[in-house]
Amino acid sequence: MAAAKKQIKLGMFLRPSGHHVAAWRHPDAAEDSDSNFQHLIDVARTAERGLFDLIFIADNVAMPHEDLETLTRVADVTRIDPFTVMAALAMVTKRIGLVVTGTTTYDEPYFVARKFASLDLVSGGRSGWNVVTSGVQMEAANFGRDFHPSKSDRYQRAREFVDVVRGLWDTWDEGALVRDKASGIFFDPSKVHVLNHRGEHFKVRGPLNTSPSPQGHPVIVESGSSEDGRDLAAETAEVVFTAQSTLAAAQEFYGDLHRRMAKYGRDPDSLKVMPGMLVTVGRTEQEAQDKHETLQALIHPSQGLTLLSKYMGYDLSGCDIDAPPPEVPANKLGLISSRSVQLTEMARRENLTVRQLYERVAGGRGHFSVVGTAAQVVDHMEEWVTTGASDGFNVMAPYLPGGLDDFVELVIPELQRRGLFRTAYEGRTLRDHLGLQKPVSRYAKAAAAVAAE
Ligand SMILES: Cc1cc2nc3c(=O)[nH]c(=O)nc-3n(C[C@H](O)[C@H](O)[C@H](O)COP(=O)(O)O)c2cc1C
Repeated sequence: MAAAKKQIKLGMFLRPSGHHVAAWRHPDAAEDSDSNFQHLIDVARTAERGLFDLIFIADNVAMPHEDLETLTRVADVTRIDPFTVMAALAMVTKRIGLVVTGTTTYDEPYFVARKFASLDLVSGGRSGWNVVTSGVQMEAANFGRDFHPSKSDRYQRAREFVDVVRGLWDTWDEGALVRDKASGIFFDPSKVHVLNHRGEHFKVRGPLNTSPSPQGHPVIVESGSSEDGRDLAAETAEVVFTAQSTLAAAQEFYGDLHRRMAKYGRDPDSLKVMPGMLVTVGRTEQEAQDKHETLQALIHPSQGLTLLSKYMGYDLSGCDIDAPPPEVPANKLGLISSRSVQLTEMARRENLTVRQLYERVAGGRGHFSVVGTAAQVVDHMEEWVTTGASDGFNVMAPYLPGGLDDFVELVIPELQRRGLFRTAYEGRTLRDHLGLQKPVSRYAKAAAAVAAE
């Protein structure tokens, strides 16, 4: 009998309007997706019908630019708080995982630990936390800071932040909440742990005042790709989202992460790497190409420049769009993200003008993009998962709902036909879908180590 094929993990990377910068202007798009919750319900249900492992909503806690004039054509300046959306989507879906961003730079570990444990409780074990150090420098001004901290400071804080959150999730031992009506004892204090964390960035006493959740620890997702980001992921992440524009770059990233994991004694299988993939699929190549062109034709230059400024990490408004991108300003050098570096390299390598660069970024924003038939899309997916580039994909629909409808109707059956994807959900929790173990609490580990001595 032939060996079973590696099963592809699929995330549905949900941007309310879709991923293309002009998506909201598509004739079939919901132009009010920033506030239309019914639209999000419909999309989530479609993703669940497609048996996706998870839905992911990214987040920034600031508008992407301080000059409102430059933002007038950008659809995602407003949004419903993604955490609130996920809690509500938990009520109208049954199986699909719910992953949402939480910033370690501008939030506090106690709040984050409580929120994600609570999402896990209300969803029956489907929550995941996308740990970010915050990509948008404008966030600083909304949290009483004059400057966005440097990347290395942000990652140091992130490492301690994740450790505190996990410690809080370990508060309750198995059987701590006895809830015994007859004796009147609600919990057993000998099975509750006070964290008493005192570190460089945080002082957190604990214990966590939220009951243990079905997954014990909601799934830890990370999406930084710099040196610091890779190190943090190798030590702590269970899923990594990343933007890789070529197969070779994705293979390098995948291999590098696994090498770094070895330093922490981690099993490679305990981390699922899911690069983004923008998929424009049609019944024929021509149909797919036409769909792509429809969106490209809707990009206004000012929209292109605003988008590019966000991902490059410095202001490009007013620059000559028919010239190569300007150099990174000296005062931004320490703040530039891995995505900005990738885009600058792509522009140099391919000799792109600013306009050509924003046209490339307009849909995939630095992620791998495919325009083609279902067979062509699945050829790429199969190649990536069988040549050490990924364990699955964070699927990006160019516009919604049509782009996701096409994926579920055309690509999912092709994946199933080739034996690369499930035909029904088998488990209940996000950990079940991804094949991730439930972590053992630090207190149980310490007790086992003492017992073994
Ligand atoms: C798929 C994906 C999703 C991301 N989502 C967010 C997000 O929701 N909020 C955010 O501030 N940064 C987000 N990021 C950016 C990173 O998490 C990180 O903050 C940024 O890339 C800077 O770190 P780096 O230089 O280590 O990559 C995302 C990145 C990727 C690839």
